Amino acid sequence: MMKRFLLTVSLFAWLATAAAAELPKVVLENGASKLLVHGKPYLMLGGELGNSSAGTAAQADAILPRLANLHVNTVLMPVAWEQIEPVEGRFDFHVLDHWIAGARQQRMHLVLLWFGSWKNGFSEYAPAWVKADTQRFPRARAVDGAPLEILSTFGEETLRLDSHAFAALMAHVRTTDPQQTILMVQVENEVGLVGDGRDRSAPANRAFDGEVPPSLVQALAAKRGTLTPELAAHFNPQGRSWKEVFGDAADEAFMAWRYASYADAVASAGKQQYALPMYMNAQLPAPLERAGEYPSGGPHPYYQQVYQAVATHIDFYAPDIYWPDFAHWVQRYRSLGNPAFIPEAKIESAPYNALYAYGEAKAFGFCPFGIDSLSRDNDAPPPLLMQVYGALDELGEQLTQAQAENRTRGLVLHATSPRPTQTVALGGYLFTAALARSWPDKRLLSNDGAMLVLESAADEFYIIGSGLTVSITRDPDVDARVAGIASIEEVSRSGADWKIERRLNGDQSNQGRQLSMDAQKVRIYRVRLYAATR
Ligand code: DGJ
Repeated sequence: MMKRFLLTVSLFAWLATAAAAELPKVVLENGASKLLVHGKPYLMLGGELGNSSAGTAAQADAILPRLANLHVNTVLMPVAWEQIEPVEGRFDFHVLDHWIAGARQQRMHLVLLWFGSWKNGFSEYAPAWVKADTQRFPRARAVDGAPLEILSTFGEETLRLDSHAFAALMAHVRTTDPQQTILMVQVENEVGLVGDGRDRSAPANRAFDGEVPPSLVQALAAKRGTLTPELAAHFNPQGRSWKEVFGDAADEAFMAWRYASYADAVASAGKQQYALPMYMNAQLPAPLERAGEYPSGGPHPYYQQVYQAVATHIDFYAPDIYWPDFAHWVQRYRSLGNPAFIPEAKIESAPYNALYAYGEAKAFGFCPFGIDSLSRDNDAPPPLLMQVYGALDELGEQLTQAQAENRTRGLVLHATSPRPTQTVALGGYLFTAALARSWPDKRLLSNDGAMLVLESAADEFYIIGSGLTVSITRDPDVDARVAGIASIEEVSRSGADWKIERRLNGDQSNQGRQLSMDAQKVRIYRVRLYAATR
C-alpha cells in the first residue's frame, strides 16, 4: 500500500517537474487560440506600455502595481537594442531585470517587444554606434538615392549584430527567468519601408533586378487557391523576375521577402538560446493608402503568405488594430491560420473590442496600447476596460474551456456602424443585440455596446457586457420550439461560488422579454432560458 502511495507521489512529482520545464506554447485547436503556460491555458488580459514607459527601473515600480490593481495580468513592454547594448559587445540588462522582479511581485507576466533594427519602419531604437556608422550599417535609400533614417535589410553587419543582441537577450531570459514570467517575444516592431515602396540602395536594386528565389515561388504556388485576394491578383508562378511574378505588387512583395528573411534570422538566433513563442506585429494599411504610406512589406494580411513561406522561426503574426473595423482585421488574421492575439488596439474602444476578441475570435490575448495611461480614481468606478477584465477574470478557467469547446460567441456594436443589430447563435438560441435605448423616448443610452456569451450548461448562459438590449429567440435551424427567459441574475464571483447580486425582471427585463444591460457598467448576467413546444 505504502509502496504504491510512494510511487504515485513520485509520479506526481515527476509530472509536476516536467510541466514546470515545459516552455510557454501557442496552439490553435478547434478554432480557439491557446497560450499554454506550464501546460495550462492562460488567458492574457494584456496591455502594451507606451514607447517611453519602460526605459527606467523606477517606471516599473510606479506602473506595475497600478496595472495589477486594474486586473491587467500581462504587460507588453519594449526592450530596446540601444538600451541593452549601449556600447558594442557590452550588455546591460539591469532595467529589464527590475521589470521582471516587479512583475513577479505583482504575479504578472511580461511579453518582450524587441525594438531592434526597426520600430514602426524606422531605426530609432538601434544603438547610437549603429546609427552613426553608415558604412558598416547601411541605410535604405529613397528613389532619388538619398539615405533614409532606416537601416537597410541588406546590411550584413546589421543583421549579424541585431541577431547577436537578440540572442544575448534570450540567453539572459533563459538563465534569469526559470519561473516563466516572460511568456512570448515580439521580433522587431511594425517593420516595413516608410516613404517609398522599396529600398533603392545598390544591393537592393541588384537583388530586385535578379530572380525571385524559386523556393518562394514554389511555396506560394503550393498555396494557390488559398492565396489572399491581394496576392492572387498579381501572382504569376510562371514568371522569373520580381515584376513578372508579382506585377504591380513587386516592390512590396520584394520588401516582404527581405523583412521576412531578416526577422527570421534574428528569431532563429534568439530561439537557439531560448525558444519562447515569437511573433511579428504589423501596421495595417488604411483604405486607399499605398505601400510606403503604410510600412511597405510589413506582415499585414495582403502579402503575409510571403512571410509564412520564408520565416519558419516566426510562430505567428498579429495585427495592431487602430482602424474602426476591428472584427474584419481579426478575422483576416485568423483566416491566414494565425491564432487570435491582438498586441495593440485602440484604447478608447478596447472595452468593447475585448469582448469580441475573447468571445467571438476565441483570442488568448488582447492588449490595448498605452495601457499605463489608465488609472483608477478611488472615488470613481473603475475604467470600463478594467470592469471587462475583472469580469473575464471572474469567469477564469470556465472561459478558456468554453473557448476550446466552441461555447462562446461575442459581438460589438457602435452607433456609427451601419448595422443597428447583430445576432449570434449559441446553444440552440439566437441572441440579437441592439444598442440600449431609454424608454419611452428611445434615446441611445450608449454609443457603444458589446457582449461575450458563454454557454455554461444546457439552457444556461453567462453574458458579460454593457450597453446592449438583447432579445433571445429559439434558433429555427435547431428546432421549431419557442423560447423564453426563465431568469436573469446579475452575478459576481467570490472564490468558487457565484453570488447573486440582483434578480432582474419586470422593467429591468422589458417585462420578461429581453436582457437589458446596464448602459454604463460592465456586468455579468446569468441567463436561464427555456424552449417549449408551440
Ligand atoms: C504602433 C506602434 O507599434 C507602437 O509602438 C506605437 O507607436 C503606436 N503605433 C502609437 O499609436
